[in-house]
Amino acid sequence: MSAATRADTGPAVTAGIGASVPKGPMIDMHAHCFPCISQAEARAVDAERAPWLEVAAGGESGHIMLGDKRFRPVQAQLWEPARRVEMLDAQGVALQVVCATPVMFGYGWPAERAADWARRMNEHVVAYCAHSPKRLKALAQVPLQDLDLACAEASHAMRHGCIGVQIGNHVGDRDLDDESLVQFLVHCANEGIPVLVHPWDMMGGGRMKKWMLPWLVAMPAETQLGMVSLILSGALERIPASLRICFAHGGGSFAWLLGRVDNAWRHRDIIRQDCPKLPSSYARRFHVDSAVFDEGALRLLVDVMGTDRVMLGSDTPFPLGEQQIGSLVHGFPGLTAAEKARIMHDNACAFFAIAA
Ligand code: CO
Repeated sequence: MSAATRADTGPAVTAGIGASVPKGPMIDMHAHCFPCISQAEARAVDAERAPWLEVAAGGESGHIMLGDKRFRPVQAQLWEPARRVEMLDAQGVALQVVCATPVMFGYGWPAERAADWARRMNEHVVAYCAHSPKRLKALAQVPLQDLDLACAEASHAMRHGCIGVQIGNHVGDRDLDDESLVQFLVHCANEGIPVLVHPWDMMGGGRMKKWMLPWLVAMPAETQLGMVSLILSGALERIPASLRICFAHGGGSFAWLLGRVDNAWRHRDIIRQDCPKLPSSYARRFHVDSAVFDEGALRLLVDVMGTDRVMLGSDTPFPLGEQQIGSLVHGFPGLTAAEKARIMHDNACAFFAIAA
């Protein structure tokens, strides 16, 4: 059983008690929603792997379900936009960019079925954001297992209210250096579609059964794998530099271990064979979000990526997200007020072409 279909038994959300509320307008570019998908709707697509929403009596909480199994405990703001906006008001967030919960991707299904599902999910997410169009913006999902269908859905979604796409970092055994995925990114570059890459379906299998290890250990490695695959394959030599591509969770392990990749590139020809330039020289082709939860990690991240490549991303409303949105960046002593404003607002405006 893959990590994507294993139950996430993490605790329910707890508030960031005592954290200070950040100052200045904030755009949070990494947040999730999950539509009110019925069990019947999910069962018609895939009885075991299509997710649906079980809402508890009272409507305040529920579970994302896979078949008859509970996958993750969730709260109403995930499917109720009015509740989401209440939270944004309470936390001083001007705008939140929301996208599917990765368990919704459907990359393991026949492509036509996944394309139909993606279209419906995108309509759900656009409708969710339409509740408050100045406060909520949508990213689309695409049937990434099929290049033509993925490109078509990305372009369709951009014409119908989405401001970018979210993709998983792999499709089965195919990583981002796979030619089909590279061509999808070329399409996004040519059409000016911003891309958020989210880790999912984590490696490690049976060795990571406990303590949410797939989320703590494998997820950062998945993200790093996507970024390093794009670099070492030489794909970034073929993808237009105009591509706006952001990796979640601060790029996972990427910034921390980029020096190791550079060292290996210098000393092993098999690492240089497809990658003509020093790996770290490609780092600025990427954006990352700020969801790293530690000042030392944020310091390294802005050193490696640059303050113009880091964007506020909370990963809310899940328990592993930043519960007081923006508190890490706001409280970080290593940035000027102007640099903080970039990370919390300006960079996302440029990345998603949002009017300031
Ligand atoms: Co996320």
